[in-house]
Parts: sequence; C-alpha cells; structure tokens
Amino acid sequence: MKTILQAENLTKVYRVGSVDVHALRGVSLDVEEGEFLAIMGPSGCGKSTLLHLMGGLLTPTEGRISVDGEDMTAASDARRTDIRRRKIGFVFQRFNLFPTLTAEGNLRLAERIHAGGRDNDKEAEGQRREVLKLLKLEDKMHHKPLELSGGEQQRVALARAVINRPAIILADEPTGNLDTENSAIVLNMFQEMNYRFNQTIVMITHNPEAAAMCRRIVQMRDGQIVAPSTGVQL
Ligand SMILES: Nc1ncnc2c1ncn2[C@@H]1O[C@H](COP(=O)(O)OP(=O)(O)OP(=O)(O)O)[C@@H](O)[C@H]1O
Ligand SMILES: [Mg+2]
Repeated sequence: MKTILQAENLTKVYRVGSVDVHALRGVSLDVEEGEFLAIMGPSGCGKSTLLHLMGGLLTPTEGRISVDGEDMTAASDARRTDIRRRKIGFVFQRFNLFPTLTAEGNLRLAERIHAGGRDNDKEAEGQRREVLKLLKLEDKMHHKPLELSGGEQQRVALARAVINRPAIILADEPTGNLDTENSAIVLNMFQEMNYRFNQTIVMITHNPEAAAMCRRIVQMRDGQIVAPSTGVQL
C-alpha cells in the first residue's frame, strides 16, 4: 500500500476582521492509494477546509500536505497548480460550471486544461463517452447549465472532475443537493471509478448511506478528527 495523500498536523486560521477563526486545530490524516474514504461531522467543523487544503486550493497556517510524495506546502503556486491539474479532480459543494458553455464545452475545457492546452485525442473521447454513459448524461451534452436540472448540473460537475481519470478525487458533499435517484447515480459512479481504476476518493458527506459505501469514515468535530482515522472499517 502506498500513501497517496498525507496531511500532517494541519492548522488553519481564517482572519475575519479582528477575529481569528480556528477552522482546523491539528489534523493528521493518511490516505492510501485506492481508498474510498468519507469525512463526516457537523456544519462548520472544518471538513471543506481540510479538503481544500488537501487539494492545494488553500495553504495551511501550519502543517504539511503531500500528494503522491510531493510536498504541496513547500511548492510554489505554479507547482501546486500543476500537481493539482495532473493528479486531482475536485467536486465542489457548489457546481462551479461555466454558465456560457454547454455541458460538452465544460468537459472539453477540463480536458484541454489537463492536456496543457493541446487538443484531445481519441482516448480522451472514449473516456468521455464512458463517463457520460455511467452518469446518464449522453443526451444532455448540448445543454448549458441553466438548461439542466440541479441533479444534472451536479452530474456534469462530477463528470468534469473525473473525465481525466485523476489519481485522487476530492468531493465536497457530492450528493448534498440530490434526490435519491441522482444520489444513487453519483455514488455508483464513484464506486465504479474506485473499483475499476483504483482511483482514490475522499468524500465529505452528511448522508449515512453514502458513508456506508466507504471503507473508512473519518469523523470531525471542532477542527479536529475525533474518531480514529484508521480502523473504523465497515
Ligand atoms: N474563507 C473563510 N473565511 C473565514 N472563515 C471561514 C472561511 N471559510 C470557512 N470559514 C470558517 O471556518 C470554519 C470551518 O468551515 P468549513 O467550511 O471548513 O466547514 P464545513 O465542515 O465544511 O461545514 P459545512 O458542513 O457547513 O459545509 C467555520 O467556522 C467557517 O465559518
Ligand atoms: Mg463544507
């Protein structure tokens, strides 16, 4: 087993006016390659902050993060962006789709960014088709985000995050706004990606059914991990 994501003693303090908000108070977490892990805990306990730190979207106040052996904390902004682009797919709590692009345009953009601006090859096209099929989106490709339902938008956002088969998928409440049917599609997709391609998935969720699919659940409270970060096996 190889540790693909490592957080060591992370703290994060946000400054709001003259007030310090201690969002993380010393979080250490090792994620093994191919794990499907859930992060749970009450609103405001620091889950999104932890996920954003692990994906290099934020820098910690103290502590260290490494992704596939590379130290994200010591890396330059450009280097961090590069690691993220090559290795990580993000599913945000909000969809963040480009409103003026169609679903297909959003996906092609993600592919181009991943390929460093080059046009996609046949392999990318095959991968895209497979992902769209899994997410039941094939007939929605020419819709813009406002012409899609909330569930469909979330599925496009998910397709965008996984289309380049990143080694690591970080998902912030991917089923948060979805009905049962859409949640099942999304969770099934994660299981497939995890099982077939050994992609590592870290998923924040409030949904016990979603968490039950994970091999490990990390519980957070007040900026800390409260349940042991190993050994909680379902
Ligand atoms: N950009 C920010 N500036 C200041 N404070 C912030 C910022 N982002 C988050 N916080 C604060 O940090 C704490 C942790 O927030 P975080 O978003 O990580 O919580 P969460 O566990 O993801 O909650 P939720 O389940 O509601 O999404 C909260 O007290 C929040 O108010
Ligand atoms: Mg959050």
